[in-house]
Amino acid sequence: MVPAQGISRRIADARTYWSSSSGAAWPADSHWRNGLGDEAWLEVGRDHLAIYQRFAKGLDLPSGPGRVIEWGCGGGANAVAFAPIASKFLAADVAPDSVTECVRQVQVVCQTPVEPVHVDIENPERAVDGREASCDTFLCLYVIELTAGAEEALRIVRIAEQLLVSGGMAFIQVKYRTADRRTRGHRRDYRRNLANMTTFGIDEFWLRAIDCGLNPKLITLVPRNRLDTRYAYYALIKP
Ligand SMILES: C[S@@+](CC[C@H](N)C(=O)[O-])C[C@H]1O[C@@H](n2cnc3c(N)ncnc32)[C@H](O)[C@@H]1O
Repeated sequence: MVPAQGISRRIADARTYWSSSSGAAWPADSHWRNGLGDEAWLEVGRDHLAIYQRFAKGLDLPSGPGRVIEWGCGGGANAVAFAPIASKFLAADVAPDSVTECVRQVQVVCQTPVEPVHVDIENPERAVDGREASCDTFLCLYVIELTAGAEEALRIVRIAEQLLVSGGMAFIQVKYRTADRRTRGHRRDYRRNLANMTTFGIDEFWLRAIDCGLNPKLITLVPRNRLDTRYAYYALIKP
């Protein structure tokens, strides 16, 4: 088996990749409209909003998401679907250009107040300062698989717990592993393996979310979509 690289190397490689805004694949990897193409880009937000609303209905939550933060907002594919029905939208990302692009896309489609949030990949908790218990909905979609390792992914879940109000929902998508060894996270060569760095067993993520202080309530699986395979969506409620 090829050995894993150390976590600090993987984090450094992730930072270099996302903040560079360069390379042929970067706009598609970052889910910018010009990277995915109109149809796929619009579908991302539409599909995610539909799953979110199914969860909200099943849990007797208001259908509107209230004050939303999207962690890893990329080029705004989800933002343009959620922001028009939100009361406020926070666009958070490790890539400054993606934060700017997401804010721009939100302003094209609605007048909902939108705030840029720059995330330092090595100190993501700093983005929480002054925002504790200020969000009703925490979105994290097509991001967990790109984190440098499971502990980095779970840092994001703990950040969700800090940002949410009691009763708020973290709507998180995870790429799941199966019995096939090849579906384990790759843990090396970030740029080449970025969409497969971190995977979880379906029940494993459910249990780790509890350790992070959130109550998992609902899950749905999407074994394949237009972009990729093996996705699990969780509705995690802050007690
Ligand atoms: C595949 S795009 C997804 C964008 C958007 N969430 C969507 O579903 O269309 C991944 C985004 O996550 C960001 N990202 C990567 N690692 C991150 C981390 N550790 N914390 C926050 N954002 C991260 C990248 O800069 C990129 O914009």
